[in-house]
Amino acid sequence: MAELITVEDPDDPRLGDYSGLTDVALRRCREPAEGLFMAEGEKVIRRAVRAGYGMRSMLLSAKWLEVMGDVIAQTPAPVYLVSPEVAERVTGYHVHRGALASMRRAPLPSPDTLLTHARGGVVTGSVDDHTHPGATSTSGPHTRERRIAIFEDIVDHANLGAAFRNAAALGVDAVLLTPRCVDPLYRRAVKVSMGAVFAVPYARFESWPRDADVVRKHGFVLAALSPSARSVTLDEFADRHYEKLALMLGTEGEGLSAEALRVADNHVRIPMDAGLDSLNVAASSAVAFYATRPRSG
Ligand SMILES: C[S@@+](CC[C@H](N)C(=O)[O-])C[C@H]1O[C@@H](n2cnc3c(N)ncnc32)[C@H](O)[C@@H]1O
Repeated sequence: MAELITVEDPDDPRLGDYSGLTDVALRRCREPAEGLFMAEGEKVIRRAVRAGYGMRSMLLSAKWLEVMGDVIAQTPAPVYLVSPEVAERVTGYHVHRGALASMRRAPLPSPDTLLTHARGGVVTGSVDDHTHPGATSTSGPHTRERRIAIFEDIVDHANLGAAFRNAAALGVDAVLLTPRCVDPLYRRAVKVSMGAVFAVPYARFESWPRDADVVRKHGFVLAALSPSARSVTLDEFADRHYEKLALMLGTEGEGLSAEALRVADNHVRIPMDAGLDSLNVAASSAVAFYATRPRSG
């Protein structure tokens, strides 16, 4: 059972995890360095806990005590009770969802480890050392088609969160991020994903696109999503039914780098109408994940 501590001073050092949440630059450095991330709102906090992330503390206004009662009963982490005014003074914004939790990051598996533990069956399994919360079990049929997504240099947290949500909802088995891709555990990404960043196992390449070799070594066909007229259409591509497919999506604005396009085995386009040349990256991911979903029969 968590200890309930009423705090009235916004400068109380025990609330340090929650200070300056609106300072994106500060939080982007601080959170990975200190091994924490923020979960905001009842659903997201529950999903983080269910995914196996440890809790450092919670910050609640009184009316959330009852709603979060079962979570409080199960956690040894302190729960700081504050007024909405104190919460706002500490965080820098009005905490609409009334509940924040500071969660512990876990070490990420390497891309090789992530894909190794896919074991020719499903990729939703955990790695042996359980270093990646969100991973569950490795059971499953060994013949099922598998898909992973590679997000190259996505710089907008909302886009990354939405793309993770699409991946979780549309059965993508794992996500690989290039080194410059933003942090999926940053508050905005977590919030937009509705906690889906906890549900899809992910890893980060050390070097990209050199590490595309790791993906190929595991038998994945690399498909670059690119609106270029030279690309094959998504309908035509989806009919090929690859057993192991890695769908690569590029950064906002520029799209996939020339190097990424070079290492891809296929270039695939979603045909565009109305004189528009491309979709937003998260929207494209939803279309591509859906079109390439495994089908029985
Ligand atoms: C905003 S778009 C970038 C547009 C950029 N001008 C380009 O040529 O790729 C971001 C990413 O979404 C995906 N995307 C957007 N529209 C697409 C389309 N019509 N077909 C295939 N992929 C698309 C691509 O992966 C792209 O890198």
